[in-house]
Amino acid sequence: MIPANLERAVYGMYATHALHVATQHGVFEHLTRHNGETAGKIAAALAVDEDTLERLLLVLSSFGVLAPDGERYVLAADVRPYVDREDPRYLMGFVEHLIGNTVDQFGRLGGYLDTGKAESDRDKPTPFEAIYHDDESVGRFLHAMWGLSYHVSHELAALADLSRSRQLLDVGGASGPFSVAALHAYPQLSATVFDLPQVAPHLAMRATEHGLGDRLGFAAGDFFRDPLPAGDCFAFGYILSDWDDEACAALLRKAYEACLPGGRVLIMERLFDDDRGGPLATAVMNLSMHFETQGRHRTAAEYLDLLRHAGFADGTVRLSSGDKHLIIGWRTESESDR
Ligand SMILES: C[S@@+](CC[C@H](N)C(=O)[O-])C[C@H]1O[C@@H](n2cnc3c(N)ncnc32)[C@H](O)[C@@H]1O
Repeated sequence: MIPANLERAVYGMYATHALHVATQHGVFEHLTRHNGETAGKIAAALAVDEDTLERLLLVLSSFGVLAPDGERYVLAADVRPYVDREDPRYLMGFVEHLIGNTVDQFGRLGGYLDTGKAESDRDKPTPFEAIYHDDESVGRFLHAMWGLSYHVSHELAALADLSRSRQLLDVGGASGPFSVAALHAYPQLSATVFDLPQVAPHLAMRATEHGLGDRLGFAAGDFFRDPLPAGDCFAFGYILSDWDDEACAALLRKAYEACLPGGRVLIMERLFDDDRGGPLATAVMNLSMHFETQGRHRTAAEYLDLLRHAGFADGTVRLSSGDKHLIIGWRTESESDR
C-alpha cells in the first residue's frame, strides 16, 4: 500500500485541477448557496454533464474539500470560507493563478537544474517587466495580491500597533491592501504607497472605494533607483521575498535612511520554520519565487539578520494566524544608540 503522504503527493495535481475546474463551472458558488445536494441536482442546476461532475466531486471528497453525506455533497465546514467568493478569505483566485500561470513555468526547472537560474534566464525580462506586460496583466496581478494580502492585513496592522505612527510609507504597496487596512484601524495615520507608475490607477480606485480621500497617496518610482519619501513607518509586504539578499539589504538600508528617528520598519512575509522543514505553503511558494521572481522565502532569523545589517534595532517577530507574519525593526532616536 502506498504511504498516505506519498499518495497525496503523487495525486496532488488532481486536487489543484479539480478545484480550478469546479471554480470555473460554478460548483462552489452553487454549493455555498445550496449546500448538500446530489450530483444529479447540482449538474441540472449548472447545466453540466452529471457523470463528469460526479467524478470531480468524488475527487474533491477524497481530498476532504467536500464531506459527502450519503449521496449528497456538502462543503467541509473549514473549507467553506475559502471557496466562497463573498468571503475575504476566498482562495480560488489564487488557484486560478496556479493553473493559469504557475503550471507552465515548471518546465523551466529542468534548465535551472542543468545550468543554474542566472544562465537559464539570461535573456528573460526582469520579473515585473514580465508580470506587467500590459494593462490587463497589471490589473490581474494587483487583484491577486489584494486577495492574498487584504484580509490578513487587518491582523498585521493590529499586531504592529500603529497608534503612535503618523506617516506610513508602503514600499511596493500595490493597490494598497496593507495601507487600506492600517488606515481603517488608525484614524491619525496617513499613508503613501510607493510603487511603479502602472499601479497608480489601481490604488486610486481602492482609495475611492474605501473613502480614504487625502489620507492615502501615491508616489511613483523605482525603489532600486529612486530615493524613498520620508516617513515614520516603512512597510515591506511580500517585497523582500521577490529579491536576493543583496537587493534586500539595499532596500532596507534605503528605508533606514528615509525613516525618521524613532520610526520603524515592518516586514510582512511568509516564514520558513527555523529548520526549514515547513510549512508546506512556504516551501511550495519558495519554488514559485524561483521561477517568478529573483527571491526566496526565509526564516525569521534570516529577516532579523537583514534588519540588523541595515541598522534597525530590537528586531521582533509577531506571528499572525495566517500565512503572512510580521517582523519589526526600529530606527533608534540617534545613531549613537546603535
Ligand atoms: C508581490 S507584490 C506585493 C504587494 C503588496 N505589498 C502586498 O503585500 O500584497 C510586489 C510589489 O512591488 C512592486 N514593485 C516591483 N518592483 C518595483 C520597483 N522596482 N519599484 C517600486 N515598486 C516595485 C510591484 O509593483 C508590486 O506592487
